[in-house]
Formats: sequence, structure tokens, C-alpha cells
Amino acid sequence: MELSRAVAALLLACSAWLGCVQAVTLEVKEGNSTCIKAELSASFSITYDTISGTGTAQFTLPDSAAVDTGSSSCGTDESLSWLVAVFGPGHALGLSFSSNASLYSVANLTLQYNLSDSTIFPGANSSGVVTVVSASVGISAPINSTYRCVSPVAVRVGGATVTFSGMRMEAFMPGNDLSTKESVCSADTTTTTAPPTTAAASTTTAPAPTPAGTPDHGTYFVKNSNGTDCLLAQFGLQFNISYFSKSQNKTVQDLVNLTPSQTNASGSCEASRATLVLTEERDTTLSFTFTLNSTTNKYHLSGLSLLAIWPDMTDQFSASNTSLEYLRSSMGRSYMCKAEQTLIVAPTLSLNTFSLQVQPFGVITDQFATAEECQMDQDQMLIPIIVGAALAGLVLIVLIAYLIGRKRSHAGYQTI
Ligand SMILES: *[C@@H]1O[C@H](CO)[C@@H](O)[C@H](O)[C@H]1NC(C)=O
Ligand SMILES: *[C@@H]1O[C@H](CO)[C@@H](O)[C@H](O)[C@H]1NC(C)=O
Ligand SMILES: *[C@@H]1O[C@H](CO)[C@@H](O)[C@H](O)[C@H]1NC(C)=O
Ligand SMILES: *[C@@H]1O[C@H](CO)[C@@H](O)[C@H](O)[C@H]1NC(C)=O
Ligand SMILES: *[C@@H]1O[C@H](CO)[C@@H](O)[C@H](O)[C@H]1NC(C)=O
Ligand SMILES: *[C@@H]1O[C@H](CO)[C@@H](O)[C@H](O)[C@H]1NC(C)=O
Ligand SMILES: *[C@@H]1O[C@H](CO)[C@@H](O)[C@H](O)[C@H]1NC(C)=O
Ligand SMILES: *[C@@H]1O[C@H](CO)[C@@H](O)[C@H](O)[C@H]1NC(C)=O
Ligand SMILES: *[C@@H]1O[C@H](CO)[C@@H](O)[C@H](O)[C@H]1NC(C)=O
Ligand SMILES: *[C@@H]1O[C@H](CO)[C@@H](O)[C@H](O)[C@H]1NC(C)=O
Ligand SMILES: *[C@@H]1O[C@H](CO)[C@@H](O)[C@H](O)[C@H]1NC(C)=O
Ligand SMILES: *[C@@H]1O[C@H](CO)[C@@H](O)[C@H](O)[C@H]1NC(C)=O
Repeated sequence: MELSRAVAALLLACSAWLGCVQAVTLEVKEGNSTCIKAELSASFSITYDTISGTGTAQFTLPDSAAVDTGSSSCGTDESLSWLVAVFGPGHALGLSFSSNASLYSVANLTLQYNLSDSTIFPGANSSGVVTVVSASVGISAPINSTYRCVSPVAVRVGGATVTFSGMRMEAFMPGNDLSTKESVCSADTTTTTAPPTTAAASTTTAPAPTPAGTPDHGTYFVKNSNGTDCLLAQFGLQFNISYFSKSQNKTVQDLVNLTPSQTNASGSCEASRATLVLTEERDTTLSFTFTLNSTTNKYHLSGLSLLAIWPDMTDQFSASNTSLEYLRSSMGRSYMCKAEQTLIVAPTLSLNTFSLQVQPFGVITDQFATAEECQMDQDQMLIPIIVGAALAGLVLIVLIAYLIGRKRSHAGYQTI
């Protein structure tokens, strides 16, 4: 048995100034045939002991991660097959796969990290390599199908959390490329439980001005395999989030702005589903799922999920809702709302958006199509019109009064 080659390549070739997050492609081969292929992004959060207490290291799987041909294998009848990616000085992420006649699954996930790497683990009180294993990963799919999970999925392994996103993966592959048949993870399947058809009150205005200040405006795009833009979005975004604060030892309600310059966009576009995943500073993953109803040719924001591991959090924050009815517009149009909007996700999380414009479907020539504006903008458009009309009326009245007055005084002079 010989493993001839393994490849790690960049998947998304977005120009750097757009700030797209890269997915890594990993392949395990035997001879000329591929048995495991994975396209994914992964981020890690690891707590470790330091001289002065504990620290949390947060980093992403770099695009330089490569399959370790020595420890990866396609497996034999008795042994499991392994995908092991190595990166940096002595770090590794391993997935072992098992299968029966109908299903294959990730049997366990292994994470190996080198505490001597002081760029990732500054001030660690010990050195050397730590290996942690988790057997409950929850990734499985039918044989001859590709496991797909665009939404972020977090796996706890020892004192670490590995968060996968944008994942497409297959083991025990029948051919050299991922099967076209997909098995979609539950986080990706929108559970639209017949929402009430009244589109009214789907958005509500935030009542108070924001102490955190208005967030910066960011522009994000998702490209399809053609390299053309298939989803466009621009907005300023603010999290209104409640979590248990480590420093204050209590649950706090916090307003936090998304910083566009530190945010990378990725995602996917399909015929009736489009996803935008925003990753900020390795510790915040926000995903938007848009759904198109092909009968009515209307789309809306149907799902939102946030995974956050901020320094002041004791645990990873996670909130998601897949039955939302926000940002409704028509196919071939973009949705625009200049006014501030509040998107309620869960009791612990809502998002405030500012000057938002999105188009998740039917993007042509990398530009927004004509916008359908939200009701609040239409209402606000009315104000200048009303004020303008009132002013024009006032001017007219003054003018008439003046003319009448002039005529009278004129008549007065004539009688003298
Ligand atoms: C792999 O492919 C090359 C060229 O396509 C061929 O020459 C070689 O015999 C193949 N090797 C195996 C083990 O199939
Ligand atoms: C761990 O990191 C240190 C420092 O970068 C390096 O010298 C050492 O070789 C690494 N250990 C392994 C097993 O790669
Ligand atoms: C394969 O494994 C799954 C879960 O481990 C089980 O539900 C299923 O019945 C198994 N199928 C066969 C054919 O053994
Ligand atoms: C590192 O710190 C932890 C907790 O403070 C302690 O239990 C452990 O023994 C320390 N390790 C070394 C090598 O000093
Ligand atoms: C993970 O898989 C390996 C290989 O089969 C096995 O040796 C190990 O015991 C497994 N670990 C757990 C925690 O299941
Ligand atoms: C998977 O595909 C291979 C090759 O196309 C075929 O031989 C095999 O029977 C398929 N297995 C299942 C469970 O569908
Ligand atoms: C590639 O672009 C063309 C039009 O430019 C489009 O029709 C086609 O669906 C795109 N292919 C993919 C895979 O998105
Ligand atoms: C944040 O959420 C809380 C609770 O849902 C709410 O009372 C508060 O008004 C919100 N603040 C802003 C600025 O949106
Ligand atoms: C946090 O508060 C709880 C009760 O409110 C208290 O028992 C605990 O000691 C506090 N922890 C710290 C680190 O202050
Ligand atoms: C975004 O992507 C760029 C280039 O791919 C990378 O250098 C940067 O670290 C990423 N930023 C974040 C916040 O992940
Ligand atoms: C599309 O909209 C129609 C009319 O509102 C509805 O009956 C149908 O269930 C929707 N389809 C999907 C897939 O949501
Ligand atoms: C999801 O959002 C809907 C509509 O805003 C709300 O009724 C529902 O309670 C939310 N679900 C969860 C789990 O928060």
C-alpha cells in the first residue's frame, strides 16, 4: 500500500482586499485514486496554563496545512482510514473515518498542539506536544455521498474547541472527486415550520441610540466556482448580545460592533439557498442563510447563527435561528434598508443593521440590481416630501400675501 501524493490547496481565490477567508482542500490518495477529500475552514480555541494563570489561544487552520502522508491512510478492512493535516511547528488535526454498508462517519477527531510554539501559546508554563481526542464528532453521511455543512459546527475536544465551517467532505470515495450527491447537515437545513404569511412586523426599529457608536460599513461578497460574484452584501452591523462575563462574574448585555477590516467573508450559492459566513478575528463566526421560494420568486433571510469565543466569555457563545422571515425581496432585485433595523435571532442575541443592502440571488455583472426598499426607508422618504410640500405652500402664501399687499399699497398711491 502506497500513498503517492497528498495535496493542500487554496480553494477560494478572492482578492486580498476583499478579505475572503480561505478554505483548505485536503486529499488522501492511494496510488492514483483519492479515498478522502475535504474542503473546509477550521478555527481553534485552546485554553492552556500560563505562568500567571490560564490563556486562550485562538487561531485558524492555515492554508499551508498539508496532509501528512505518513500518518494518513485509506485504511484496510480492519483499520480505520485517516486524514491527518499538519501545520506550523508540530500542530496536527486528524480525522478518522469508519464505515458500514450504508454509512460512513468520523469515528474520532484528534488535535495535537505544540505548547512550545510561543507565537500561538505565549507564556505557556509547559512545553511540548499535547494530544487530545474526541470520539463524539457527529459527522456522518451515506456512502457515495458528500457530507456538506456550510454552517459553523463546533466540536469540543479536551480543553479545546474546533469549529468547522464551509465543509464539504467525503471518505471511502467511489471516484476521484467529491460525489455530486450531498448529505446536508442539520445546521444547514432550514426548518421552515410554516411561518405565518403576514410579512408585516418582520422587522422592528431599535428604540434607543447605540452607546457603542454606529458600526463601520463593510462590503462582503461570495463568489461561485466561476469566480463571479453570486452574493453581494454591504452593511454596518452590531451585536446585541447577552453572555456570562468572566471579568464581571455575571451575565451582561453588551453591544459590540463588527469590524469590517478584521472580517473575512465566505459562503456558498445554490439555486434556492445562499449562505454568507463572516469570520472576525478568529473568534466570531456569523452566518446568514437566504432562501429563495421558486414558486413566488421571493427570497428572504431565513437563518442566522453566531458562534463567538470572546476573551471575556467563560464558554463559547452560540445562538441560531433557522425560521426567520427577514429582508424580504424579489428575485432579480436587491434588498435595501438605510434605516437601522433589528434582527432578533434568539433571546440572547439580536443584530442591529445600518445602511444595509444585500442581494443573495440573481447577481449579474457583480453589481446590485434595483433595490426594493424597506418600509422604514419609504416612510422616511415621505418626511422630506411632506416638509418640501409644506415649505412650498408657505412660500406661495407669503408670495400671494405680498402681491396682494403690493397691489393695495399701489392702489393707495394712485388715489393720492
Ligand atoms: C497513475 O497514473 C499515471 C498517469 O496517468 C500512470 O502512468 C500510472 O500507471 C498510474 N498508476 C497507478 C498505480 O495506477
Ligand atoms: C514545537 O515547537 C518548537 C518551537 O517552535 C519546535 O522547536 C519543536 O520542534 C516543535 N515540536 C515538534 C514536535 O514539532
Ligand atoms: C450503520 O451504522 C449506523 C449507525 O452507526 C446504523 O444506524 C446502521 O443501521 C448501520 N447499517 C448497517 C447496514 O449496519
Ligand atoms: C502549569 O500550571 C498549572 C496550573 O497553574 C499547574 O497545575 C502545572 O503543574 C504547571 N505546569 C508546570 C510544568 O509548571
Ligand atoms: C480514536 O481512533 C483510534 C484509531 O482507531 C483509536 O485507537 C482510539 O482509541 C480512538 N479514540 C477514541 C477516544 O475513541
Ligand atoms: C458506491 O459506488 C460504487 C461505485 O460507483 C458502487 O460499486 C457501490 O455499490 C456504491 N455503494 C453504495 C452503498 O451505494
Ligand atoms: C458560471 O457563470 C454562468 C454565467 O456567467 C452561469 O450561468 C453558471 O451557472 C455559472 N456556473 C456556476 C457553477 O456557478
Ligand atoms: C439590546 O437587547 C436588549 C434585550 O433584548 C434590549 O432591551 C435593548 O434595547 C437592546 N439594545 C439595542 C441598542 O438594540
Ligand atoms: C462569582 O459569583 C458567585 C456568586 O454570585 C460566587 O459564588 C463566586 O465566588 C464568584 N466568582 C468569582 C471568581 O468572583
Ligand atoms: C482574512 O484573510 C486574509 C488573507 O487570506 C488573512 O491574512 C487574514 O488573517 C484573515 N483575517 C481573519 C480575521 O481571519
Ligand atoms: C413558496 O410560497 C408559496 C406561497 O406563499 C408557499 O405555498 C410555498 O410553500 C412556498 N414554498 C417553499 C418551498 O417555501
Ligand atoms: C426564531 O425566530 C422566530 C421569529 O423571530 C421566533 O418566533 C422564534 O422563537 C425564534 N426561535 C428561537 C429558537 O429563538
